[in-house]
Amino acid sequence: MKVLNLGSLNIDKTYIVEHFAEEGETIQSETYDEFCGGKGLNQSIALAKAGADVFHAGCVGSDGTVLLETLQRAGVKTELICKSREPSGHAIIQVNRDGQNKIIIFGGANSDVSSEYIDQILTHFAHGDMILLQNEISNVSYAMQKAKDRGLTVAFNPSPINSSIEHYDLQKVDYFILNEVEGRKLADTHTEDALEILRKLRQKYTKAVFVLTLGDKGSYYADESDILYQEIFPTEVIDTTGAGDTFTGYFLAGIANGRPPQEAMRYASLASSISVSRPGASPSIPDCEEVRNRLTDKPRKAAHG
Ligand code: RIB
Repeated sequence: MKVLNLGSLNIDKTYIVEHFAEEGETIQSETYDEFCGGKGLNQSIALAKAGADVFHAGCVGSDGTVLLETLQRAGVKTELICKSREPSGHAIIQVNRDGQNKIIIFGGANSDVSSEYIDQILTHFAHGDMILLQNEISNVSYAMQKAKDRGLTVAFNPSPINSSIEHYDLQKVDYFILNEVEGRKLADTHTEDALEILRKLRQKYTKAVFVLTLGDKGSYYADESDILYQEIFPTEVIDTTGAGDTFTGYFLAGIANGRPPQEAMRYASLASSISVSRPGASPSIPDCEEVRNRLTDKPRKAAHG
């Protein structure tokens, strides 16, 4: 199975701060770094490192060579990526002492993904292949529709979640990978109860499979017949940026390679735990060998799990 990941590519301008800047406050950052990121790029790298045959599609500007080279070094195929007249997308990221982040994104070339381009890249894929989408590029809804018409399995990470999603036909989605905030929004509920969020999601999108990540409370997998719970692998938290992307890429690589869901969840959980113990988004994504070597680490069951 080939995986087409049509998603964003960003330069992450990352500032380590003592605390997040408040309204009207000016703060000094402790460090400044630039990393390759974007939910799309991060997820492609995680997919490739986890062993999937992944093609990235999306747009970069004339400043995007570093983004292409970073994908290629990880084993991602980049020949479908288009060059835009816009500058590449970028993100301004504050990371605080607890490793938590606040992110502003500027779309740039990511907003230049056109319906004509989508039609053209889809000709390289067919029934039996998978498309992965996030919500950081233009024409997500069009891509979802056309990919489904072509018989591809559609995986969607509705991140960042915003009102545009209300206009997508989410019945086209086969796999949702989402966090609690996104889950609540799609399920149209305020409940804190993860199982209740899943129940509502399954009621609304009856044929889809759901992976609901809950940060340090673990994650759930739910399909027509099963609900599985996956514990976290405790670690020192340095930078959580890209942890969800690492989880998504590792989980879908497992599914694309025919692994049982519980195994895909275990790899995804461990890979994302390793990623939060390191700085940056894409540079923090571990190789599969490192994940395999750590599988004997003891996961921790969250109190409610
Ligand atoms: O999920 C983390 C990513 O979100 C960052 O790499 C940043 O570019 C934003 O897209």
